[in-house]
Amino acid sequence: MAHLPAHVGFNFTKTLHHDINASTDPTKRDLSQPSKVVLITGAGRGIGRSIALRYADCGVACIIICARTSSQLDEVEEAIKSINANVNVRKLALDVTDEKQVKLAIDKVKEEGRLDVLVNNAGVSAPWIPLVDSKVDEYWKTWEVHLKGTYLMLRAFTPLLIDTAKNEKTQANIVNLTSIGAHLTAFGASAYQTSKFALLRLTEFVCTEYENEGVNCVAIHPGGVLTEMSKNNKAIQAMLVDTPDLCGGFIVWYTKSQRSWLNGRYLSANWDVDELEARKDEIVNEGKLKMRMIV
Ligand SMILES: NC(=O)c1ccc[n+]([C@@H]2O[C@H](COP(=O)([O-])OP(=O)(O)OC[C@H]3O[C@@H](n4cnc5c(N)ncnc54)[C@H](OP(=O)(O)O)[C@@H]3O)[C@@H](O)[C@H]2O)c1
Repeated sequence: MAHLPAHVGFNFTKTLHHDINASTDPTKRDLSQPSKVVLITGAGRGIGRSIALRYADCGVACIIICARTSSQLDEVEEAIKSINANVNVRKLALDVTDEKQVKLAIDKVKEEGRLDVLVNNAGVSAPWIPLVDSKVDEYWKTWEVHLKGTYLMLRAFTPLLIDTAKNEKTQANIVNLTSIGAHLTAFGASAYQTSKFALLRLTEFVCTEYENEGVNCVAIHPGGVLTEMSKNNKAIQAMLVDTPDLCGGFIVWYTKSQRSWLNGRYLSANWDVDELEARKDEIVNEGKLKMRMIV
């Protein structure tokens, strides 16, 4: 996108993708993760639904799909089963901002005996309105879902991820869905863009506190995707050129291997994963893809 400033990193890799591709498509290469249990919030539609279906493609033991709308979870369960009948599906009707509901979910997830991947995907967007004109409830709801919701899920499920990493002698993964908007200050978008920016730092905190216990954490921009959330926002329609599968494939690729070298970093699902891998030393040694002041 020519109009985006360089610091947002849109063109960080030379090749950019708008759809799932040969390196991220579990139907085209081995991205299988057979014994893993994966939990995805906001999995009833849009990008979260696609993440769940791509895990069905690659083959995992169990996909736990969460959202508030049960009918949408039923549809996603059917879609998963039609792709891969061997995957165990659990549905949790869950509001991520509700501490009691999140706490109740812990025991249900523990019944699976392990948790390998937590995808904090649930998201909302308040109308883009300059802050003085914004409605307090709408504005704060965006912060609540993105920050309080992600915080509650991290607080509840990180212990189980740590146990899994320890017991299975592996690394567990957390993915927080952020946005390229975290690097921007679009007129009227402060609720959404500040909350997605804060998620980048929260992602780093997870690594500061838990990477030594086998938990990896990254923040991923899923691309610009036409979904329920984005469809009414006139300001971004021209940017909605990516498929929901772009992100589904990217996340499946990310969790396939132990990629602690990416810890605490911002990643874009548009980037080419082979180029990213080839630039590992540069990214690690030069501290790239983390939020820092230019001084
Ligand atoms: N679309 C894009 O272009 C784009 C770009 C950058 C980042 N993102 C991010 O990608 C993620 C997915 O967005 P999307 O575009 O796929 O939106 P979407 O189609 O509207 O899906 C949002 C999902 O989040 C769930 N959700 C919302 N509030 C929730 C709550 N309080 N508790 C639990 N679940 C909740 C929704 O289900 P219920 O309403 O049934 O709970 C739904 O399943 C979001 O974090 C979004 O910010 C999207």
